[in-house]
Amino acid sequence: MSPVKKETLLFVDDEETILDIARTYFQSRGYTVLTAGNGREAIEVLWHNHIDCCFTDINMPEMDGMELAEYVRKHDNTVPLVVMTGYPSLDNTIQTLKNGVVDFLVKPINLRQMELSLERVLRERRLFIENIMLNKELAGKERIEKLNKELQQKNDELNVVNRIMTDFAALRESADVLKQLVDLTIAHARADVGCFYLVNESSDQVVPIAYATSEGAAPLVDKGTGSTSDLFPLSGDPKIKHLIFEAVKDDQPLLVSSRNGNGCLPEQVASFMVTPLKIRSKLLGVLSAFLGDGDCRFGERDLYYLSVMANKAASAMESLALYENIYNNLLATLYAFVKAIEARDPYTKQHSHRVTRIALKLAKAMERTAEEQDILNVAGLLHDIGKIGIRDEILLKPGRLDREEFAIIQQHPVIGADIMDNLGLWHREKMIVRYHHERFDGTGYPDGLKGEEIPLLARILSVADVYDAIASDRAYRRRMEEDKILEIMYGGSGTQFDPEIIDIFRQLYQAGELTAITAETD
Ligand SMILES: [Fe+2]
Repeated sequence: MSPVKKETLLFVDDEETILDIARTYFQSRGYTVLTAGNGREAIEVLWHNHIDCCFTDINMPEMDGMELAEYVRKHDNTVPLVVMTGYPSLDNTIQTLKNGVVDFLVKPINLRQMELSLERVLRERRLFIENIMLNKELAGKERIEKLNKELQQKNDELNVVNRIMTDFAALRESADVLKQLVDLTIAHARADVGCFYLVNESSDQVVPIAYATSEGAAPLVDKGTGSTSDLFPLSGDPKIKHLIFEAVKDDQPLLVSSRNGNGCLPEQVASFMVTPLKIRSKLLGVLSAFLGDGDCRFGERDLYYLSVMANKAASAMESLALYENIYNNLLATLYAFVKAIEARDPYTKQHSHRVTRIALKLAKAMERTAEEQDILNVAGLLHDIGKIGIRDEILLKPGRLDREEFAIIQQHPVIGADIMDNLGLWHREKMIVRYHHERFDGTGYPDGLKGEEIPLLARILSVADVYDAIASDRAYRRRMEEDKILEIMYGGSGTQFDPEIIDIFRQLYQAGELTAITAETD
């Protein structure tokens, strides 16, 4: 049995006998054999089959072996070509070799000689292809490594930029942005000191207003005086100021290190960078970063991060300022509502303001957080905003309200909470407005909540609300007698009011802190 060989051979000759002999012999050796009568036919075969080696005669009708060789060289130089001719001439030989022919056999051809030539050609072809593949693979590997490295760098940069964006997105007040900015400068730009300066171009002034130092960084102490006072000692250095104005003038980030700084930097600064921070194309100030003594210097990437941070901070400040503006506008509109209600109802003129102040006194004495006090401030001013929905004849009715009228009045906490809900803001404030008429024993309205089911700040507001209602001087009547006031307040402990809040109330009342508020005339 003949060995299995997978190669496919093409024999091209105008002599049928030669093709027959070759076919019979090489098929018996396991090769697949295709044949063609001239160059043109051979090209057809090459188009439609994968050929591992092609044997061709030179002199043939229509297209000779040399044209075929040229065609193969141009179109697929991985197909080795062996030329067989009965009339070798030097010219022929040279021409065919130029056309990439790999071997030359002279007729009459010994089949064994052809086979040896074939084996050699196929071996060389395998090597040739392997070599091409290897080179491709090598180039591919190098390219992949390079791309990987670039990708890793881009990825790192993206991560840092993402973190910067997330950090800014978490901020709620524009005042926090600058502090955050200098902290991030330490974290992401590897700085010893990060500082934000307000810049006033017209008065030629730079004013450092926020700065941060990295842990363990050598302090950038003024070596002349050893001073560590002020914001930080280098903040006003004339060389630094000069560089800040350079960056502002060019409207470009600037990086200077002592290697190339040529005395541009103060002695104790090894590397310094600065980038302008603009809001709506108006300069606010500059973000700067310092590296002290040591071998570290800022690089281009640090400068890139610095300018990314300044840009992100600028947009965060812009949107926060917008938000704060809208928020304040909205608040102002709501206060105007409250004022309108109070104007309709002379009994309660300034009531909301006083209730807020009393509630804040209680909250402070109870050591509630600044955030809770902010919430109470908004909720206190808006607590009766739901009265806007109640008709004058009920709201302003001088005598006792009947059951139906009282039920309408009782809706005002719900209406108020709904108004705030529609604005999509102040969830916690909204709950205080809703629950400011709940009672500790569960008999209040609108939901009959009991004890600690009522939010603490609503319980505080309820004490302040009732106290102001009975203790304030009014335009048409004097305040209630003190005994009566205290009877209602202290007597309500545990029923109407949270006893712990009444204890605090008692202390503040006895200290005269509350009467000062309610004694104010309208
Ligand atoms: Fe109320």
